[in-house]
Amino acid sequence: MKITVMGLGYIGLPTAITLAEAGFEVCGFDVNKKTIETLQGGHIHIVEPGLQEAFEKAVAHGHLHFSEELGKSDVFYISVPTPFFKDENGSHKADLRFVESAGRMAGKVLEPSNLVILESTVPPHTSEMLARVLSEESGIPMNEIHVAHCPERVIPGNMMYELKNNDRIVGARTPEAAEMAASIYEKVLEKGVVHKTDDLTAEMCKLTENTFRDVNIAYANELSVICDKMGIDVFELIKLANCHPRVNILTPGVGVGGHCIAVDPWFIYEQFPAEAKVILAARERNENKPHFVADKVVAKMKKVTDTVGVLGLSYKPDVDDLRESPSIELCHILQEKGVKVIACEPFAKDTEVQNIPNVSFEEVLKADYLVITLGHTLFKENKDKIAEKPYFDCVGMME
Ligand SMILES: NC(=O)c1ccc[n+]([C@@H]2O[C@H](COP(=O)([O-])OP(=O)(O)OC[C@H]3O[C@@H](n4cnc5c(N)ncnc54)[C@H](O)[C@@H]3O)[C@@H](O)[C@H]2O)c1
Repeated sequence: MKITVMGLGYIGLPTAITLAEAGFEVCGFDVNKKTIETLQGGHIHIVEPGLQEAFEKAVAHGHLHFSEELGKSDVFYISVPTPFFKDENGSHKADLRFVESAGRMAGKVLEPSNLVILESTVPPHTSEMLARVLSEESGIPMNEIHVAHCPERVIPGNMMYELKNNDRIVGARTPEAAEMAASIYEKVLEKGVVHKTDDLTAEMCKLTENTFRDVNIAYANELSVICDKMGIDVFELIKLANCHPRVNILTPGVGVGGHCIAVDPWFIYEQFPAEAKVILAARERNENKPHFVADKVVAKMKKVTDTVGVLGLSYKPDVDDLRESPSIELCHILQEKGVKVIACEPFAKDTEVQNIPNVSFEEVLKADYLVITLGHTLFKENKDKIAEKPYFDCVGMME
């Protein structure tokens, strides 16, 4: 069976490698020529433990290759971005242009027996839109188009394990799509189990999972603001509360970032603004947190001319992903307040990230005041050096 993976980013590339490991003949396709050139040159373009080794093995076995041309295939996986944008009224809207354009491309080479698996996280009814687009381009009647929405739920940093061991939801639009998609995942999965449902439930399932985490983190962030007023340690409080067998509060931080948790709740809110009250409140609480941290930092600085050194710009520890990062938002808010900001993001190669000077760890320690936004391993291993400076710890790293 030949499988083409469309979109070779954080999700598509590890997925392509895992499918090749399971014995499928896999073609990786991306509209970004540089990505294809890098991969054809034997290198990967994202940071993920174990990925380079697995990539080299799959290519050496001859099961995995990359192409700038989209050819015929038995199965098309779509793992393209699904960001949001703000319309003229400031409302959050899902940007489905990438899904639509991938669908139109696949539709041009689609045959009636082919399966299209949508792995991107999408708002309700997007699989239906994809089936319509595929039908328009291929001429195959829409009710005969085999589409399954199988949302990806791996965590960056542990993808190669979770791709084989997480349970998978197969939300199919036809019985044939359900059978075909389930048989592929069953071949890939070691411990994980396949759960079959319809496409709309699968779309909502993924959004529900990430919104659950956003709401939980919003609660933790709210507690951190309350504890600050009370003068007690929120990290100790949560640790003690979590001793309760049915309580599991997540960790507060500088906000919520990344392409998933900070984005997906808006996909529910966009379609159900009257009902999604808790979801909106959580989003607003998390989006406000960098402003709260910025005010605390300014209040703690000795002189307005002090330099603030921000430890970490990505959205979570030990990853290079900068999308929707609240640490970057914090830097920009501080800059708007006239504060001189430098940052150390060891996973970013550039010396400047979105107008923020990105310096070495040794250099950032020269700042007058430090803000710990992430528990990167580099920072955890150098707590003693950080402790020599006044600091504000947003993530409880220094205990
Ligand atoms: N990153 C994560 O941790 C994660 C986890 C679970 C789910 N997801 C979801 O997976 C999807 C992909 O996310 P990602 O982080 O891999 O994005 P990404 O930006 O890292 O990669 C997407 C890739 O798709 C390519 N692309 C865009 N249009 C294309 C087209 N028409 N044909 C072929 N390639 C095209 C881009 O060039 C890019 O390389 C999103 O919907 C995201 O919400 C991401």
